[in-house]
Amino acid sequence: MDLIIKNGTIVTAKDTYAADVGIKDGKVVLIGNDLRHSEAETIDASGKLILPGAIDANTHLGMPLNNTQSADDCASGTYAAACGGTTTIFDYVIQQPGESMMETIRKRSELFEKESYIDYSFNVSLTKVTPEILKEFKEAVDFGINQFKVFMIYSKEHLMTDDGTFVKAMLLAKELGARMAVHAENPYIINMHTEEFLAEGKGHPWYHYQSRQEYVETEAVKRAVYWATSFNTPLYIPHLACKEGLDEISRARNEGYDILAETCPHYLYFTNEVYKYEGSQNYVCSPPIKGPESQDALWDGIKRGDISIVATDHCPFQSHEKAAGLEDYTKIPNGVMGIENMYPYMLSEANKGRLSFNKVVEVCSSNPAHLFGCAPQKGTIAIGSDADLVVYDPEKTFVVKPEKMHSNVDHTIWDGVEFSGYPIKTFSRGKLIYDNEKFVGEKGWGQFLKREPLS
Ligand code: URP
Repeated sequence: MDLIIKNGTIVTAKDTYAADVGIKDGKVVLIGNDLRHSEAETIDASGKLILPGAIDANTHLGMPLNNTQSADDCASGTYAAACGGTTTIFDYVIQQPGESMMETIRKRSELFEKESYIDYSFNVSLTKVTPEILKEFKEAVDFGINQFKVFMIYSKEHLMTDDGTFVKAMLLAKELGARMAVHAENPYIINMHTEEFLAEGKGHPWYHYQSRQEYVETEAVKRAVYWATSFNTPLYIPHLACKEGLDEISRARNEGYDILAETCPHYLYFTNEVYKYEGSQNYVCSPPIKGPESQDALWDGIKRGDISIVATDHCPFQSHEKAAGLEDYTKIPNGVMGIENMYPYMLSEANKGRLSFNKVVEVCSSNPAHLFGCAPQKGTIAIGSDADLVVYDPEKTFVVKPEKMHSNVDHTIWDGVEFSGYPIKTFSRGKLIYDNEKFVGEKGWGQFLKREPLS
């Protein structure tokens, strides 16, 4: 062993028990009581929890949008992630029109190999689903990618995928051991409301929410679930924010269909009230944050297992870029931050008794690993697993302030939020990369995680 973390309480998705963890060459090699080794560095974790590092299954680092790009690139995003106890991300590669998908994936891969501070893997956002792109699915799956995402929104010329193409992609993905994901909102209703609002001079961010209310997302989720159940294909609904969409997913899951839902910390903490007040533009994301009824339903969905994954959809923009759309919400680049806040927030809710620590590990770490083909290497603490570990101090109080965050964004929607308990150390494959509010990692340390095809 080269490292022993002693006297802590290990928490996985299934178990909570007191034990020491022995690590060698980046892997967990021993779990037991009173582990000793003369040459191993020893860390005392008395009174602390030892958790698997979080896996953020939905990030958009350096994503181009509205003639700008999201504020965190690979380096700053993975640096910030580590400071919040996240040790792996699944980042969306944006397929570039006119370029082969594999070309885009390889370029992204080269960038991450040089820049990433933590392990990473990719999903693909498809901007134009052509027959040529579908032909590349197999190569992408062989490369280690098992999720492709399409959009129901935006315009026919840009991003939007029609239902026929979506179903074709779902059937092909199933055959290859991959899962289609869909951004589910109804573009026609958004456009109808937007035209009307802007003609009436109603451009304030509140109308971003008004143009994409619960029914806009619900109809699209129901449609996606309808096609997935009609053709019996797996489906992933990322960033789910509405109650009735979740009801439909629960119904389909109860009937045995392979439908997975993900929600995000901002939908669990904030409500649509945020769009009424100063700074409302900073909360503009799609789907927008919904009302309290949806928020309660999302929490219930996590507890009963119908929401399998909590991930961030991290896609922040600088204040001036958000403010450019204060008079016309359609000009606000969509997306919010969360990469450094997800695990601390969810663990804080566990620390306050809202849900168990095991459940947080399940939705933030072990489910992303199991459901997307990288368990048991990731997502748990077990002999042979990567030593991606977080030492968590349940006694520490942490109040979020922009200057205490490590991301490249000049503000945070989490400003002033107090967390009960906080990660104090993060290890990536046995290497300490975050230590008591100080980042100590290394650029380029992160490795590509090849995800297995899904059975
Ligand atoms: O508002 C969001 N969700 N921004 C991230 C990019 C996307 O459309 O998923």
